[in-house]
Amino acid sequence: MQLRLDDEDRQVAFGECLGRALEGQGRVHLTGELGAGKTTLTRGILRACGHQGAVKSPTYTLVEPYELDGVRVHHFDLYRLGDPEELEFIGGRDLLAEDALCVIEWPERGEGWLPAPDLEVVLRLAGNGREALLEARSEHGQAVLERLAAMPALAGWSLETQGEVAR
Ligand SMILES: Nc1ncnc2c1ncn2[C@@H]1O[C@H](COP(=O)(O)OP(=O)(O)O)[C@@H](O)[C@H]1O
Ligand SMILES: [Mg+2]
Repeated sequence: MQLRLDDEDRQVAFGECLGRALEGQGRVHLTGELGAGKTTLTRGILRACGHQGAVKSPTYTLVEPYELDGVRVHHFDLYRLGDPEELEFIGGRDLLAEDALCVIEWPERGEGWLPAPDLEVVLRLAGNGREALLEARSEHGQAVLERLAAMPALAGWSLETQGEVAR
């Protein structure tokens, strides 16, 4: 699934759709350069789970846990991860194994240590906006994509239905 996200509002709106489609569980990898919109997308995911406030980048703490209406969300940012040992030290392995939703920025920094994700989201800059490419990596991930495809808002953002116009 490939989407065109024209501005920050849409990035958050898409995050909210994704948050609903995830139904409170799974591991989501968010890949993309600095400024690609990973944290903004996470804000939408958290909002869908009932978090209204700001979202701080856990760049130095590596993970920010959220306890929301019956849902636990762990927001990882591995940008500054030097050694996976640091993740072991803060109990990262247990957090990832929990029946919770884990959103992981910079998963490539934890390669070889992180368990396989359910869903991979690749974000890239496109003009003033962003493009998102989503790929399922498990049955849960596939179900998430199917739920997303059934959401009316997403049809208007799809690059597939817009054909080659954007190129
Ligand atoms: N779809 C979008 N279109 C335009 N600007 C966006 C979009 N998504 C996010 N931004 C902006 O990009 C900047 C970086 O976003 P951020 O989520 O912090 O990126 P990352 O976490 O990938 O480094 C922010 O100023 C944000 O408002
Ligand atoms: Mg970020």
